[in-house]
Amino acid sequence: MRKIGVLTGGGDCPGLNAVIRAVVRSSIRYEWEIIGIRNGWKGLIDGDIELLTDYAVSGILPKGGTILGTSRTNPYKNPENIQKLRDNLKRFGIEGIVAIGGDDTLGVALKLHEEGIPVVGVPKTIDNDLNGTDYTFGFDTAISIVTDAIDRLHTTAESHRRVIVVEVMGRHAGWIATMSGIAGGADEILIPEVPFDMDEICRHLMARYERGKRFSIVVVAEGAKPKDSDMVITQSSERDEFGHVRLGGIGHILAREIENRLHVDTRVTILGHVQRGGSPTAHDRILATRFGVAAVECIKNNDFGKMVALQGDSIVPIPLQDAVGELKTVKMELYEISKIFFGR
Ligand code: F6P
Repeated sequence: MRKIGVLTGGGDCPGLNAVIRAVVRSSIRYEWEIIGIRNGWKGLIDGDIELLTDYAVSGILPKGGTILGTSRTNPYKNPENIQKLRDNLKRFGIEGIVAIGGDDTLGVALKLHEEGIPVVGVPKTIDNDLNGTDYTFGFDTAISIVTDAIDRLHTTAESHRRVIVVEVMGRHAGWIATMSGIAGGADEILIPEVPFDMDEICRHLMARYERGKRFSIVVVAEGAKPKDSDMVITQSSERDEFGHVRLGGIGHILAREIENRLHVDTRVTILGHVQRGGSPTAHDRILATRFGVAAVECIKNNDFGKMVALQGDSIVPIPLQDAVGELKTVKMELYEISKIFFGR
């Protein structure tokens, strides 16, 4: 009987449990034992595991978060951790790992693969910024939540004749802002890929005002920055083990500036972790399930060092090095579409 480990790393995201369930259920056909590794790479360093039986994954398909827990632990921060990780793999008899994560978790997976540890990656992030896959699971749920929020903010903005600034996640890539902004009919969308110009934003908002539209919705990604500065707005300068600071607050700065310049009542909504919580959409449940099944097939074929990816209608294994290192930013043709509606 083969023993396979599965872990979830980085920020959580709707659909993680659907992948875990798919890995366990599709492994039953091969009579493998699935070991759940708790809290990402940390669990492999600490030897913190649990047996994932068919029963253990019952009912988790629609559940948000991850039954295994997650962390932003980077084992390469301390070389001793790699030895501990190796010792635990041996101790538990784990012959292959399914690592479900974003750029950081899969970056570690690639390094481990290069050191001879058998790993297969599954692409996860609400940010949709992983290369090699058309979509990551979790993204569809996030943009559904943000679109719903924009719809709700529209009615109150219109009633009070206000500008409402909606701050969404998106550290280096503005996929959530762009897609939910298009879906929700945002009047301005600001993303990390395109530094913004305050004068231009105000011109757009004034143009709407002059057309008799006395309210506006501005969607801003947390990593957006003005043209004349390279500084992103942070909540704390403390860095995690992958070197990331905690972003947040650009919405308040924008709102203050809009109110000062245009003298229009302005409010801010920061959606934060609401975007990552709760039940995955049907689309994400299906994608996550397909990824989980495909990861098991990779292991069955001893096809390690791969990430399962969605390309067109198919799920295909691609080399991990094609997915990590460089992030997938918003396609400019898509952003150009959103721009047609600015100031209208
Ligand atoms: O998972 C990526 C992400 O959603 C980013 O968009 C965001 O900056 C980050 O997570 C925040 O996560 P946390 O508060 O858990 O560190």
